[in-house]
Amino acid sequence: MGPIKPELALPAFQELSHMGVPAWATAIKTCLDKTAADPASRYAQLATVDTLGKPHLRNLVIRGCLGELTIASTSPNAIDFWMVTDQRSSKFHELISQPEVEVCWYFAEPREQFRLTGMVTMDMVSDSPTRLKAWQSISTQAKVGFYWPKPLEKRDPFNEKSFQVGQDEMESANPPESFVVLTLHVTKVDHLILRGEPQNRYIHSFHPVHGWNQMEVNP
Ligand SMILES: Cc1cc2nc3c(=O)[nH]c(=O)nc-3n(C[C@H](O)[C@H](O)[C@H](O)COP(=O)(O)O)c2cc1C
Repeated sequence: MGPIKPELALPAFQELSHMGVPAWATAIKTCLDKTAADPASRYAQLATVDTLGKPHLRNLVIRGCLGELTIASTSPNAIDFWMVTDQRSSKFHELISQPEVEVCWYFAEPREQFRLTGMVTMDMVSDSPTRLKAWQSISTQAKVGFYWPKPLEKRDPFNEKSFQVGQDEMESANPPESFVVLTLHVTKVDHLILRGEPQNRYIHSFHPVHGWNQMEVNP
């Protein structure tokens, strides 16, 4: 699947403005607001490992907070981001065997990097309302890849028409089987602010009893 144009018009990431959210979530919201006109501000790198322990890294669009897709109430302490991917992709299999990930999100203009550690859960349930809402909220450009031939298989130059997907199919109510919603449940954040001399760095860690703790560390 190629680069995907995020839909900046959607009200996303509103949960990050809620009362009581951790300081790092407020900092991400400030960065998103400063870079709202730039679709690239929602690209982040997702790191996984495979069953041999080898690392894999790729860009993904961070599409919003889970609360935008589900009516289940969440605590302001629990910040979950959602992304989408293809069930036929390598990362899907890597996440099945090792759901712990790191996501690196850099905002170029404010010059701030967030390294989010957490656990990814995957929703591929055919009648899941969350998955359906995610499907309805992504762009046609993002939908098309889910109908393409299987990723990583040798491309057949004589069968390019297999990449042609009908509009009706894409706008159908139900997402194709390949469509998976990834939810990142964040448990630790390493926030580096490049502005300033010296730079500033904060480690935010979540404790199940005490909630979020922030520690300023040397950059
Ligand atoms: C800017 C950008 C945004 C992307 N967004 C997504 C995305 O939201 N979901 C996705 O599955 N792949 C996305 N991709 C493609 C992935 O980076 C990757 O090439 C693809 O998912 C296959 O990865 P895998 O083989 O590690 O599973 C994006 C690529 C770029 C360059």
